[in-house]
Amino acid sequence: MMKKKIRAWFEKRFDLKAIEQPLDYQLRKPLPKHISWFHTLGSMSLFLFLSQILTGILLLIYYRPTAEEAFESIKFIMTKPYMGWLYRQIHAWGANLMILVVFLHMLRTFVTGSFKKPRELTWVIGVTLFILTLIFGFTGYLLPWNQLSYWATTVGTEIAGAIPFIGEPMKVFMRGGAAVGGETLSRFFVIHVIILPWVVFFLVAIHLFLVRFQGMSTMDPVDKEKEIKKGEGIPFFPDHMVKEGIVWFVLLGILITLSILLPFELGEKANPLKTPEGIKPEWYFMSMYQVLKYFPKLIGIFVVGLAPLLLFLWPFLDRSPNRIPFKRPISMAVGVLTILSLLVFGILGTLSETKQTFFGKTYEFNIYGVPHVINTRGNSVNHNNDKQHK
Ligand code: HEM
Repeated sequence: MMKKKIRAWFEKRFDLKAIEQPLDYQLRKPLPKHISWFHTLGSMSLFLFLSQILTGILLLIYYRPTAEEAFESIKFIMTKPYMGWLYRQIHAWGANLMILVVFLHMLRTFVTGSFKKPRELTWVIGVTLFILTLIFGFTGYLLPWNQLSYWATTVGTEIAGAIPFIGEPMKVFMRGGAAVGGETLSRFFVIHVIILPWVVFFLVAIHLFLVRFQGMSTMDPVDKEKEIKKGEGIPFFPDHMVKEGIVWFVLLGILITLSILLPFELGEKANPLKTPEGIKPEWYFMSMYQVLKYFPKLIGIFVVGLAPLLLFLWPFLDRSPNRIPFKRPISMAVGVLTILSLLVFGILGTLSETKQTFFGKTYEFNIYGVPHVINTRGNSVNHNNDKQHK
């Protein structure tokens, strides 16, 4: 009764059919038959983005973006407010998972050739979203103002400073001065909580509009995609939406479980006068950081800068009409090589400048990730090599 009355009230004022018809059409629009759980990765990215916004708003209640108070305010959030520890951990884990999930979503659309005509723009906006997600990570990492974040930001901005011509002014602009300090924190804070969320919000809206408007890609070759007739494909509602609901719940479970079992430590407060040993970036920048070590500065930056450029241009470079992976051996080989090099350089970067014991032998890894056996008294067997690399 009540529902009818509310509807009648709105009907007298608005042309409801004009809104309902396209909405109904979109909800019932059939999706291609090959749609699988891998096609929920985009929706997982959306869930994580929304979760970051929600937990980010909660964090903002007590967070203070100044060099004097930032560290203490996070410490306060982790101990005093109701569930403060939980939403801080969910935000930290959510950031890491979001980067992983957005990357896997990109990989899915690459493997199924979904970026090809007519969806090139969806891909280009996607690559922008991926890069912005990484910048979310980079700027957010500094906000707790601990030793790790302070020195990782010092190294990260130093790398940007090596870009010819624009590098140095860019570095000073990012830092808000010669060194990382309170000014840097203010800048990163504004980028992290105002600029990025709104830009990502609008880009996600356009991305989703394009996906809905053009329909999900089929596996047919370019220009030969057949329209999916009613009853042929999978209905978006309820079939695919139920799947999306399930993965959202599972993700929430994963976030809470990780937050409880493997919480992120806060560590020591940032100290600009005390450089810690073996400063490392977060895992998602590790392979890039490691690659930079093998090349002279300028060449390294060129090599690392080429990757995003290739990603943006990929739909215009890969001109084969096929979407089925078996019919695209070169693209698949490029994809496999990229993943392998990300893994290899990521592992080398993680091992570099550490001591590890494997099968009873202790190895010291130099900055290039090359191991040297250390004898039982703790001395490196290969002294010459060691000196050479330090
Ligand atoms: C915040 C980040 C992102 C969000 C929230 C998001 C969301 C979505 C959603 C919900 C879909 C439809 C379902 C699906 O295919 O899983 C989709 C499709 C798509 N996305 Fe994303 N996406 C993001 C980032 C990216 C990235 C990084 C790329 C690639 C560089 C990308 C490229 C695509 C393409 C090409 C499609 C069309 C897929 C098809 O038609 O089969 N997206 N995205």
